[in-house]
Amino acid sequence: MTKGLILSGGWGTRLRPLTCTIPKTLMPVGNKPVIERQIDLLKNAGVTEVVLAVSVMSEYLKNYFGDGQNLGVKIHYTNEKSPMGTAGALKLAEPFLKGDNFFMLNGDVILNFSFKKMLKKHTNFNGIGTIASRLVENPSRYGVLIIEEETQKILNFLEKDEFQNSEYANIPKMPVNAGVYVLEPEIFNYIKPKKKLSIERDIFPKLTTKEMIYHHPISGIWKDIGKPYELLDGNILLLKDLLEKRNSDEKNLIDKNADIHETVKIKPPVMIGENTVIRQDCNIGPNAIIGNNVYIENSCNISESLIYNEVYISKKTSIRNAIISDNCLIKENNKLEGKGENLVILANYVQIDENLQLKASNESSINVCHHEIVKDDII
Ligand code: GTP
Repeated sequence: MTKGLILSGGWGTRLRPLTCTIPKTLMPVGNKPVIERQIDLLKNAGVTEVVLAVSVMSEYLKNYFGDGQNLGVKIHYTNEKSPMGTAGALKLAEPFLKGDNFFMLNGDVILNFSFKKMLKKHTNFNGIGTIASRLVENPSRYGVLIIEEETQKILNFLEKDEFQNSEYANIPKMPVNAGVYVLEPEIFNYIKPKKKLSIERDIFPKLTTKEMIYHHPISGIWKDIGKPYELLDGNILLLKDLLEKRNSDEKNLIDKNADIHETVKIKPPVMIGENTVIRQDCNIGPNAIIGNNVYIENSCNISESLIYNEVYISKKTSIRNAIISDNCLIKENNKLEGKGENLVILANYVQIDENLQLKASNESSINVCHHEIVKDDII
């Protein structure tokens, strides 16, 4: 029976300060942890047992998912004392996975394609592994795949420098490793135990001469949430994708238990979670994803932003290009404004005193660490 392994033990350094208090794979996308959406996709492909390869902040994941009963899957955990790399983590999961082929996923990617189709394709290819591939412009920041068109076999894996110095460097779009694999248990023969190893860099490239690895091109949403602006973009893309797949005229996803005053102007697309209250004369959207139990007082403007759960936003506050994590308190008449990819980021339990401006520059984001109290402008 095909099982699933989700890598969920990295440091998430690029997402700090958010990842100081929430592991990257528990970051909400469309008000649900990114990894929970992946478990849903695995379930849709008939997977009933999932291994979470955890390390950094493992307790948070164990507390959230437990044995998986609430989600209707059985969840096992492997535990690395410190991160062992993607292949090191896989090797530790061998006892759970050795009987049959299995899915392996980077736990920080937003996806929405049929895993069932991928599994079928893998079975037909009959290789040691099938890698989901995605055609992208500017591929050099990912692992580029060189494919033999006729057979769909992967001939080579090129990292950034190798790609930039290769004959493929001027091709506008190339397939890259999308971070989802179907693998046969024979893969374990190629991974030395107790060593920190990367599957992308240390294992796959060496395998191409010995074994058959194929690719499965995917379309639709694909976004890794490695950096804050990618987390924001990914949320917006997912919201649009969820709306598109609804087959209805709905332009927003608003929970039936949200309490929104009739004077509030909503510019789609917007997502609003359970028990969230929005008072009079606010302007919400476009591209605002607001979580559960959030309270927004009157005359606030919120767009291009993620507001997590249990956040309190006092009156006359404007928020744009920002990520506001759980339990923040933003007092009245504040202006929080990111610029392009440089966002205003508040980690958990931050307090912003009244009448302040937090404005990111062209050069850098504004990062406020958890439990800090901001009393002065940051410009
Ligand atoms: P950065 O520190 O910002 O690069 O993030 P990261 O450490 O999470 O690394 P990366 O973005 O490359 O990780 C992709 C996925 O693999 C994420 O879901 C990580 O949680 C996971 N991952 C990365 N390294 C390890 C590891 O050593 N062990 C385990 N179990 N998971 C890992």
